Amino acid sequence: MEAKSGTVPKKEPANISRKSVDESTVGRQRDNARMFDRIAHRYDFLNRLLSLRCDVTWRRRMAECLPAARNLHVLDVATGTADSLVSLVQHCDRIEVGVGLDMAEQMLMLGRSKLADSGQDACLSLVRADGAAMPFEDGSFDVVTIAFGIRNFADTVGGLREFHRVLKPGGRLLVLEFSLPTNSFLRRCYLAYFRYIMPLIGRLLSGDAGAYRYLNRSVENFRYGSEFCELIAAAGFAEVHAHPLTLGVATIYQGQKEPASGDSHLNTEVDGAH
Ligand SMILES: C[S@@+](CC[C@H](N)C(=O)[O-])C[C@H]1O[C@@H](n2cnc3c(N)ncnc32)[C@H](O)[C@@H]1O
Repeated sequence: MEAKSGTVPKKEPANISRKSVDESTVGRQRDNARMFDRIAHRYDFLNRLLSLRCDVTWRRRMAECLPAARNLHVLDVATGTADSLVSLVQHCDRIEVGVGLDMAEQMLMLGRSKLADSGQDACLSLVRADGAAMPFEDGSFDVVTIAFGIRNFADTVGGLREFHRVLKPGGRLLVLEFSLPTNSFLRRCYLAYFRYIMPLIGRLLSGDAGAYRYLNRSVENFRYGSEFCELIAAAGFAEVHAHPLTLGVATIYQGQKEPASGDSHLNTEVDGAH
């Protein structure tokens, strides 16, 4: 693994097959990173408040889905302020190396102090880079996680393919993302909260009206459940499952990169989520 904490590595090893991403996609990704940089100072506080602390439980549930193997090398894409990365390490003692990657520098700055406070910073590092074209060699990680990040990718399947590339054969993908309750009454209540109450609280407390309207729109436009499972499969993953959480307002998705023939690199049992 070549990445250093807090920087985009300048020199690439010859065997990195980094994906090329077109200019308009790069522009959209940069705008998205700027938006997260603007709200970074309030991001964690608003996450806890707006999810009524459910996000803490959801992150723990994602940690429970890590493979049973030891010495795991884990990449958390769109790591933001590194909440998921810290939660993974706190709830799983099998992680040897944890890398968080994000495009938004202000989010990463908060993440760096969180890593230092966690006392786990010896095995954890943060990298500023685009998750759609990552500075890692093929097959670098046992697990790729992404929490509330994939719906921000301009090209969803392209991003998932990139995660597939950096996973070792037999490696596991875990995606935690918002979804909508299947029960129509609950969905209506939830959408009312999401459309009207949450953007209002977000605007008042972060001072950024656009960011929390964007959150609402991006969640409503996201193809969740079986439709998202199809996208994961289209990116090359096998054994794709969705595990809805908390009445379906969030879902953990899981996929496996096919093992190299004759290789049983990781225990593929699902250890946690239901
Ligand atoms: C809603 S936040 C989630 C942060 C964190 N994973 C969490 O659970 O709190 C979304 C993050 O995705 C990042 N992001 C969006 N598109 C990205 C991309 N293409 N590459 C890397 N990070 C990206 C943003 O900068 C932002 O920090």
